[in-house]
Amino acid sequence: MSFVQCLFDGYSGHFENVMIKDLSYRGHAIVAEAISRQLNVSGVTDMGNAYVLDIGCGTGLLGTLLRELLETHAQENDSTCKSGEAASFGVLMHGVDLSHRMVDASKRRKLKGSHYQSDKYVYNTVKVMEGTQFLKSVDSGVANIIVASDVLIYMGALEEFFQECFRVLKLGGIVSFTVEAPKVSKTRGGNGDRGILLNKNGRFSHSRYYLEDAAEKVGLEFLEWKPEFLRKQGSEDVEGAVVTLQRLR
Ligand SMILES: C[S@@+](CC[C@H](N)C(=O)[O-])C[C@H]1O[C@@H](n2cnc3c(N)ncnc32)[C@H](O)[C@@H]1O
Repeated sequence: MSFVQCLFDGYSGHFENVMIKDLSYRGHAIVAEAISRQLNVSGVTDMGNAYVLDIGCGTGLLGTLLRELLETHAQENDSTCKSGEAASFGVLMHGVDLSHRMVDASKRRKLKGSHYQSDKYVYNTVKVMEGTQFLKSVDSGVANIIVASDVLIYMGALEEFFQECFRVLKLGGIVSFTVEAPKVSKTRGGNGDRGILLNKNGRFSHSRYYLEDAAEKVGLEFLEWKPEFLRKQGSEDVEGAVVTLQRLR
C-alpha cells in the first residue's frame, strides 16, 4: 500500500472537519468555480449534458458542487432547447481514488438540494484505482469534463496524466485542477529544473511554465491559470493556482 493510500485511509473519517474547519480548504470550491466560468464555452458540454470524471474524488466534496452546478446548467439548457433537441443523459459522474476509505465515503454521498425530489447519489460509480491508470481504462473521446482538486500535488511529472486526459476528452472538453505554486523556480527550466518541486512535506509543486510545456506537448490548450489560496499548512497560507486545459483538436 502506498504512502498516499495509507495517509487518506487513516484520514477519511475526519477529512472534512480537518480540511474545511481547521485548514480552510478551498480546492473543491476553486475547481467548481473554474468549471462554472467555462460552462458556456462552446463544446464544453453537450447542450448542457456532461460526462464527468473526478480524479482523486476523496469524500466527494467537489463532486457534490459539480453535480449541483451541472444539473442546474443541464436543466436551463433543456428548457431553452426545442423539444427533442437535447440529449437525455443529463450528468454522468464517475469518481476514482487510491484510498478505499475515501471511496466508501464518496459512494455514500448524496445531494440534498431543495429542487431534488429525493436524495440522490452524487456519483454514478466510484472506483478504487490510481488516477492515470483509471483514465487508461476509459474509452477515447468520451468525457466533457475531468477534474482533480488537490490531487496532482501527489503526482510528480504530469505528462502521462495529460496525455490520457487528451485521449479521453471529447473535442472541446476540459480538464481543471489545482496545483501548489513553487516558492522558488519561477523561471523556465535551466540547471535540470523542470519546474516540478518535491517539497519537504512530500507534496509536489508545479510551475506555470512546466504545465504550459507539458500541456502543449500532448496537444491541450492552456485556457486558464488563476492564482488562488488553497488551504492552510500550520499557520502558513498555501498558495497555488487553478488551471484549466481544453482539447481543441
Ligand atoms: C486532499 S484529498 C482531495 C479530495 C477531493 N478531490 C477534494 O477536493 O475534496 C486528495 C485525494 O486524492 C487521492 N489521490 C492522491 N493521489 C492519487 C492518485 N494518483 N490517484 C487517485 N487518487 C489519488 C487521495 O487518496 C485523496 O483522497
